[in-house]
This record gives sequence, C-alpha cells and structure tokens, in this order.
Amino acid sequence: MLIKNVTATATGLIVLWADQSTMTFSWFWLMDHSNDPQSVNSQTLQRNVDTFSIPLDIAADSAQLDAAATLVQINWPNQQITTISCLRLCQVAGKTLDDEQLSETGSKTFWLADNMPETLPSISYHEVMQSEQGVLNWLENIDTYGFSIVTQTVATEQATIALAERIAAAQTTIFGTYWPLSSEVKHHDDSAYTTDFLAPHTDACYYYNAAGLQMFNCMEFDGSGGESVLVDGFAIARRIQAERPDLYEILSRVAVPGHYKETAVHLAAERPTFRLDRRGELEQVSFNNYDRSPFILEAGEQSQFYQAYAEFNRHSMNQDNWIKIALRPGTALIFNNWRCLHGRMGYSGKRNFFGCYHDRADYQSRMRTLQQTLSL
Ligand SMILES: [Fe+2]
Repeated sequence: MLIKNVTATATGLIVLWADQSTMTFSWFWLMDHSNDPQSVNSQTLQRNVDTFSIPLDIAADSAQLDAAATLVQINWPNQQITTISCLRLCQVAGKTLDDEQLSETGSKTFWLADNMPETLPSISYHEVMQSEQGVLNWLENIDTYGFSIVTQTVATEQATIALAERIAAAQTTIFGTYWPLSSEVKHHDDSAYTTDFLAPHTDACYYYNAAGLQMFNCMEFDGSGGESVLVDGFAIARRIQAERPDLYEILSRVAVPGHYKETAVHLAAERPTFRLDRRGELEQVSFNNYDRSPFILEAGEQSQFYQAYAEFNRHSMNQDNWIKIALRPGTALIFNNWRCLHGRMGYSGKRNFFGCYHDRADYQSRMRTLQQTLSL
C-alpha cells in the first residue's frame, strides 16, 4: 500500500505516501488523468477524456481513498464522479515503475575499458527461433549490454529475415528493408560500402527516426581484417557527465545536424549528441562525424562545443573501450543504435553481410509484451 491517505483541498488533492512524504495533484490534472472505464479504454489505453472542455479552475467537491487503497474516487460538481487508480498516481510520481518503462530498467550494464563484460552476450539462433522465451532473452541481452551476438545462424538471406522478424518487421529506409552490406555493393556511395576503416559512429543521424536496432548476419568472409567494433555510447555519456558536467550539458543541448545525399535523395535531420527524455534521462546518443552537416554557433559556445565533441571522440576512439568482433558465417551481431556506436576495421578480401534495421518503438513493444506474457 503506497498511499496512506488523501485530502481534498481548494486547489487539489494532497496525497500522503507510505514514506510520509506528500504530493499535491491539481484538480484539472486529476480529471484529465481519470482512468475509470468511461475515461480510458482499458484495451487500447486510448483516452476518452475531452481535456479541452475541462475548466482550468475546476475543483472537486470531495475525494475518498477506497479501503484497499487501490483507487481514489473524486466527486465533482453536478454529481459527476471519476476515479483514478493509486497505481497511476504512484507511477507518475516515480514511486513505482511506469507501465511503459521496460522492467529491466536499472539493471543495464554500461561498459568501458575498466569494466568490460567478462563474456560477450550471446544466444543461439535456435533458441531465438524456437521459443518466445528465447526472443525475450535475446532482447534482454540487447537491453542490458546494448548488443548481442547470435551464434549458429544460417548464412542465407531468408534465415536472416526470419531471425529479424522474431523481433518485428524491419524498418525501411533509403537502403531498403533488408540489405546486403559489402564493398561489392555499388549503388550507394556511403563509406559503409568500402573496405576502409570506419570510426565508431551511430547510423542515420540524418533521419529523425534513426534505427533503434541494427543487425548484420555474416554471409561470407574470405580475407583479413574487417572486425566489427562496438563502443558503449551511454557509458561514454555517463563518464563525461561525471567528469565534465559542463561538457555533458553542451552535448545534451546543442543540436548537431546530419545529412545524406545520393541521386534523388537528400536527407537532413538534427538532434543533440545526447538527447534527453522528458525526465532529463539520456535517451539517445547520436554521433557521426562523417555525416555531420555545416553549422555554426556563437563564438564562445562554438569553442565549448568543439571541446565537448572532441572529448566524446577521445573516448570513442580509445581502443581500450572497444569490443572487436570478427564476424564469420554462422554469426550475427545486433546492437542498439541509440546506445552503441559501431565501426569497422579496414579489410582486404571478401566480407559480405546481410542486415536490417528495426524501429525502436517496434522492438520495445515486442519486449514489453513478452515481459507481460512470460513474466507472470
Ligand atoms: Fe554504420
């Protein structure tokens, strides 16, 4: 029982939490957030409340907490009655997890040189293909570490698609829905389609809806070099926040533009290197110096920005912070493109991958529903 008591006042409802702290909810907010069956569709979670017809100065006549402390009934003028669940009050107050936060939040493992994972997170193709629990284990690996290896894959395009679709339909971009990745691909001029070293970066800084996940399955390798490189961008952000909060502030405020151009395509988007959510928590790291487009800041801020940007680059280029994975046929790699930067060592010979992106909301939806059904 997280709520001990409620008190109706002229301006709102005072909630006394079990820890003896209090919080006041305005009457307007309480009517807007009613979650009784008339106010919210319990199946779809769609709202029926007409926010814009509620008077800004609305006040309730009275309110009562039920005996089990599960809901608060609010009695409005004109005999209107609504209820709001105590769980909802607790969630918005941060007293318990929000319905839409993934339940493993808080157990993420951020890794840099001084605390690398002892073993790389990995799961077999068969486990993912054969059970829903396997899919959840895979997604939880990705959520915890920012990436996962898949072993014993089949090196075909169909098997790659089947694996990807255990999560969700792939995200379509200008590169297609599923795409080959090799220096033999000639219809895109992007640096990804070369044999050159690629410094760690996130993909799609030129899309507002940058891929949530990126996956490659190795189809063929006959050469040398070409290891995939991963860096934990969230771990870098946390390090910068701890050591140089002034630089963290600049990187979370200054929007950096990105662009991509080829025949009949000219994409452009922008966001800060560290994009924060409405709670002020880090939501997305975006860093791709290859795709950055021209922009200028006021002189003082520009020099601070370049200092902060260089500090990020110093960590991301530090090879002690890298995980290097030599993908060979039978192995796939999937990673969170909002958290991990990826790069590639230069190579010679043949290196053919087949891959795709997933939208972040799609993979989180899959994880949320699996957690709801399998964690009972
Ligand atoms: Fe990339």
